[in-house]
Amino acid sequence: MENMEKKIDEAGTLESLEKIRVEIFGKKGMLAAEFAKMKDIPGPEKKAFAEGLNRLKAQLLERFERRHAQLEAEEMQSRMRAEAVDVSLYAPNGVKGALHPVKDTMDRIVDYFTALNFSVESGPMVEDDFHNFEALNLPKNHPARDMQDTFYFSDGTLLRTHTSPVQIRTMMKRKPPIRIIAPGSVFRRDYDLTHTPMFHQVEGLVVDEKAKVSFANLKWILTDFLHEMFGEVDIRFRPSFFPFTEPSAEVDISCIFCGGSGCRVCSRTGWLEVLGCGVVDPNVFEAVGYEDVSGYAFGLGVERFAMLIHHIADLRSLFEGDIRLLEQFR
Ligand code: PHE
Repeated sequence: MENMEKKIDEAGTLESLEKIRVEIFGKKGMLAAEFAKMKDIPGPEKKAFAEGLNRLKAQLLERFERRHAQLEAEEMQSRMRAEAVDVSLYAPNGVKGALHPVKDTMDRIVDYFTALNFSVESGPMVEDDFHNFEALNLPKNHPARDMQDTFYFSDGTLLRTHTSPVQIRTMMKRKPPIRIIAPGSVFRRDYDLTHTPMFHQVEGLVVDEKAKVSFANLKWILTDFLHEMFGEVDIRFRPSFFPFTEPSAEVDISCIFCGGSGCRVCSRTGWLEVLGCGVVDPNVFEAVGYEDVSGYAFGLGVERFAMLIHHIADLRSLFEGDIRLLEQFR
């Protein structure tokens, strides 16, 4: 017993303390063994025995927690010492910063489309229901709203869940022809390896007289674009659904990690989904008061592109602000 307290106090690292914790409190630990003896203790003495043991357990636990806090503080201290930055140090010329991989990827995407005469549009991140949903053929209570986990404010406004509202804003302030991309931040309630609550999209929209814009045009431009971004990959257009486009497609590239034979990244399918697109639904044109036009639209996630291009496994690492990530992109 004394022995155990001493052991706790003498643990030199969190790792060794963890071993001691298992030894004492673990399922097969010393306390469990003591409690197991209860069944052999005669009735009248059981209570006292149990109380004694519980007291002992509480004492050990307190001791453990105290030591744990000490060690944690010590390890934090030594880590801070090791990572200390001397801000007074002379920085020789030539030490340059780096573009964040998301910004860099965004620039490459924007450059591709501006070279083809697309202009760059933007819109507010705090949107209203009309621009983010309603005008995009997503009426209230439409089940497709579930595709997007929305952050709402109490006054009914929301953080835009995609860049598609910029389509609506552009069409409402301008007459066709329209040929725009809209890069920007979007927000969804999601957080795991491949999702962060804030991420970036690039939207594209082309609208012109009926004879001038078709699905074939869309297919050509996206195929060329994806080859530009990912090199010699196979590309397939897979029928899909978006309320604001009809027909709609999702576009896959052959997996750049395994070349299409199937691996962990592509979930053994050989394909990676990289964007959504389609021919603008007539209901969208009706909402913005356009007549006798046709159009196509597409939307893509910039982080997804950056992850694929730079082989980044955990999307969240892009937003942790760790300078060591940026140093790899100098
Ligand atoms: N807005 C869609 C999304 O965020 C993407 C998209 C844009 C699909 C334009 C089709 C046309 O998932």
